[in-house]
This record gives sequence, structure tokens and C-alpha cells, in this order.
Amino acid sequence: MNAPAAPAAPVSSHTQVAQARAVSKEVALRSRDTGVFYNDDRQALHEVSLTFHKGEVAALIGPSGCGKSTFLRCLNLMSREIPHCRIVGSIEYHGVDIVNEKINLFDLRTQIGMVFQQPNPFRKSIYDNVALALTRHGRAANAADLDDQVEAALREAVLWDEVKDDLKKSAWALSGGQQQRLCIARALALRPDVLLMDEPCSALDPIATRAIEDTARRIAEAGICVIIVTHNMQQAARVSDTTSFFYLGEMVETGPTRQMFTAPKDPRLAAYISGQFG
Ligand SMILES: Nc1ncnc2c1ncn2[C@@H]1O[C@H](COP(=O)(O)OP(=O)(O)O)[C@@H](O)[C@H]1O
Ligand SMILES: [Mg+2]
Repeated sequence: MNAPAAPAAPVSSHTQVAQARAVSKEVALRSRDTGVFYNDDRQALHEVSLTFHKGEVAALIGPSGCGKSTFLRCLNLMSREIPHCRIVGSIEYHGVDIVNEKINLFDLRTQIGMVFQQPNPFRKSIYDNVALALTRHGRAANAADLDDQVEAALREAVLWDEVKDDLKKSAWALSGGQQQRLCIARALALRPDVLLMDEPCSALDPIATRAIEDTARRIAEAGICVIIVTHNMQQAARVSDTTSFFYLGEMVETGPTRQMFTAPKDPRLAAYISGQFG
């Protein structure tokens, strides 16, 4: 006979939340020795092995030209659009090696959305920017459903309250920060499980930057994996759960963001965060 179970030790709610998070952390994407060559001979990125989880924001930091965008572009195979760019190694997404197996790029980029440095909304209304993505993918059952999904995406991108009375206005009339959130809404409308952001705030003022950072956190809390490239260390510290440091085409160190900034192991990371270069 089994002995009666000992009463559970009291656990603080904070610990419970942390445990729940740890349990629910699902792998979204995993790179294994992913490297990139441009023009056959020049290796711009040396083997990077990283795991990204749903519900987390991962920051990729490092000075300019160190391979952050090159790596990010591998994750939804945008690199395939660059002539003479070759990826080596593998990237696992839902159990499929997207680098080496034949996959549908259109579907992949729906599931792994991307937001760029410069906001790039279509020269259409705010509503149409989001609705077009949905209709093109045959996602709306009828007009009312389309309205609902457009609203939901704009809410998730934390833009709804600012534009709800002006949905027919041109997207180009919005501020840069609003345009960037509209691009985020456009990607979110397709229900991606990963959102890639390549320096999404570099063209924005501090208030708009803050709005994008809040949006990134909210999206992650909704269960999406957000991977954000930034050369702004404060931004990485504010927004991310994990940070990976790239230097001269190598991923030098990765870990929980707090640990990376308070107890860097690699001297190159220590020098970078103390402002010695970059
Ligand atoms: N399309 C390209 N063709 C050739 N070389 C490129 C291309 N894009 C980036 N590179 C090179 O790859 C290296 C890494 O660049 P990049 O990934 O843009 O760095 P980061 O995003 O960290 O600034 C740089 O040496 C850059 O010149
Ligand atoms: Mg870049």
C-alpha cells in the first residue's frame, strides 16, 4: 500500500506563476548549426544553435554588420529571396527541417510573420491593410467575420483604440509608430505563431518605440514567439525574456536577458554592454 501523500509545501503565487510558465513553454523554432554564405565563399554567419519558445520575446543584439538580420532572415527563409545566399545547417519548425525539406514558402511566411525596419503599409485604408491579408488567404467567412478579424488584429497590435473611428483613412496618413503597429496587425491577422521583427523601432521616436515594445510584450503574453533584432541594449533589457549576442558573424552568448546584462560570461559581451564598442 502506498503511504499517504505528504501535504504539498506552501508555494507562493509568484512561484506558481513561474512554474506554470515553465511547463507551458513550447518550442516554436529551433536552429541547429545554422550558417549563411553570401556569394559562395563568404561566410557571413557561423553556426548558430538557438531555441525559441512560444510566449517569449527573444532579443538578438550586437553591433551592426554582425549577422543579426542574416540570421533572422533564415528563420522564415526570406534569405531564399537573396541571390547567392546559401543556408547551411537546419531549422526545425513543427518537426520539419525547413532548410532541407521541401516546404511551401507562402504558408511558412504566414505562420512566421515578419516586420521590417521601415514600416511598409500598403497605400490603402487602415482597414484594407489588414483585410487584404485575410481575404487573400481565404480566412474570412463573410463580411461580418472579416470585420471581426480586422478588429481583433488591430486590438492585438494595440492600435484599435487609436484608429477605430477612422478605419477608411489611408494607412499612409498614420504616424510612423502607428504604421508599424498596423504592419504588426497585418501579420497577426494571419494567426502566426512566430513574429520576427528586424529593428522595428529604428525609425521611430521614443514614445512610438515604447508602444511597439508594449505591443511585442502583449503579443508574447498571448502565446506567440517574438524574435526581435535590436542594437539598442536598453530595448532588449526592457522587452525580452532571452537575449542572444551576435558579434562578427558569430552567436557568442545566449541566456536569460537579466543574466546576460548583469553577469555576462564572454568578455566580448561584457565589453559590449559596458559600451566599449558598438
Ligand atoms: N544581401 C547581402 N549580400 C551580401 N552580403 C550581405 C548581404 N546582407 C548582409 N551581408 C553581409 O553579411 C554580414 C552581416 O550583415 P547583417 O546580417 O546585415 O548584420 P546586422 O543585421 O547584424 O547588422 C555583413 O558583413 C554584411 O555585409
Ligand atoms: Mg540588420
